Amino acid sequence: MSILVTGGAGFIGSHTCVELLEAGYDIIVLDNFYNSKSESLKRVKEITNKDLKFYECDIRDRKGLDEIFAKENVEAVIHFAGLKAVGESCQKPLEYYDNNIGGTVTLCEAMRDAGCKKIVFSSSATVYGSENISPLKETMKTGGTTNPYGTTKYYIEQILTDLYASDNEWSVVLLRYFNPIGAHESGRIGENPNGIPNNLMPYISQVAVGKRECLSVFGNDYDTHDGTGVRDYIHVVDLALGHIKALEKALKETGCNVYNLGTGKGYSVLDLVKAFEEASGVKINYKIAPRRDGDIATCYSDPSKAKEELGWVAERGLDKMCEDTWRWQSQNPDGF
Ligand code: NAD
Ligand code: UFG
Repeated sequence: MSILVTGGAGFIGSHTCVELLEAGYDIIVLDNFYNSKSESLKRVKEITNKDLKFYECDIRDRKGLDEIFAKENVEAVIHFAGLKAVGESCQKPLEYYDNNIGGTVTLCEAMRDAGCKKIVFSSSATVYGSENISPLKETMKTGGTTNPYGTTKYYIEQILTDLYASDNEWSVVLLRYFNPIGAHESGRIGENPNGIPNNLMPYISQVAVGKRECLSVFGNDYDTHDGTGVRDYIHVVDLALGHIKALEKALKETGCNVYNLGTGKGYSVLDLVKAFEEASGVKINYKIAPRRDGDIATCYSDPSKAKEELGWVAERGLDKMCEDTWRWQSQNPDGF
């Protein structure tokens, strides 16, 4: 029996593949390389000294999926594949709805017809919208998302919830990630954004390595301890380990469960800059810029449900997140 990992060549997927292989699972990766390179999977094998199966396939390709399910003995799916750029989703909403929602529906149809009814899905803290006050709990109202990317996550959660309601043989685990950063401590795999990074950590690390001149800090007049935005940064390896716990739950019992994966601690933009400077020994050039549209002041999790029900807690602190990002970025300045 194998675990199918969609989007397994990407940032979070590749780190999860390492932890799956280390935990002794047989894995099959499916990716269309829209936002990743095959080199990441080569390095997953190098880190673990284990093999994996790979199919270059799109989750919207029903025939391709059917062939994989017919050939392989897939016990459960960890579903990372999707488009994730908030700004781009406002320019290309149809592409986002098609890829993320259409792709997930096609994947679930293929799973159902193959009799594979266990899925762990990559959702996001973005489903909490902008009205809830942190710490964010799974019981809070979701929706009110402010961009098509966030709306795809909200709709997919609903689709998978409806799927379970219609057929209680399914095991659905919805994981709401907060802000994943960091890299594998080997320095061999990490985040590899195309073009100018949208997210804070890759921007900081590219400034550190000399690829970008200056970080723009989007707003210093928020109601936070230093005026800059506060987020719940989580080490990608802790996040990957959360998937192992979620998978164990999905393999063990049917149901539809949702968990926050965060640390429960909020750090500001300037906290992160300072921590990165300490970890790397490099001064980060930054300037204060206007607020970015759609940003909120503060967003962090209450991670207690994942601790109680999955036995999972994020263990790596901000220093480790910065140290590992720096190792990856400085050893691979141009990514893969
Ligand atoms: P990523 O872009 O590095 O990985 C996604 C992978 O999916 C890529 O390898 C890409 O090539 C592949 N892919 C995209 N569309 C596909 C398709 N139609 N068929 C097959 N493969 C396809 O992103 P990531 O940061 O690793 O994120 C993984 C998942 O987690 C995504 O669903 C993302 O929305 C979600 N998520 C990410 C964050 C974050 O900050 N990184 C936060 C919350 C949720
Ligand atoms: N920021 C800057 N300068 C930058 C980039 C970001 O000051 O160049 C600030 C933002 O204003 C925000 C903080 O850094 O205060 C974090 O911004 P990111 O873009 O790194 O992350 P977000 O919290 O905006 O969003 C991320 C993902 C979303 C996901 C969300 C919740 O990009 O996909 O976390 O999980 F939905």
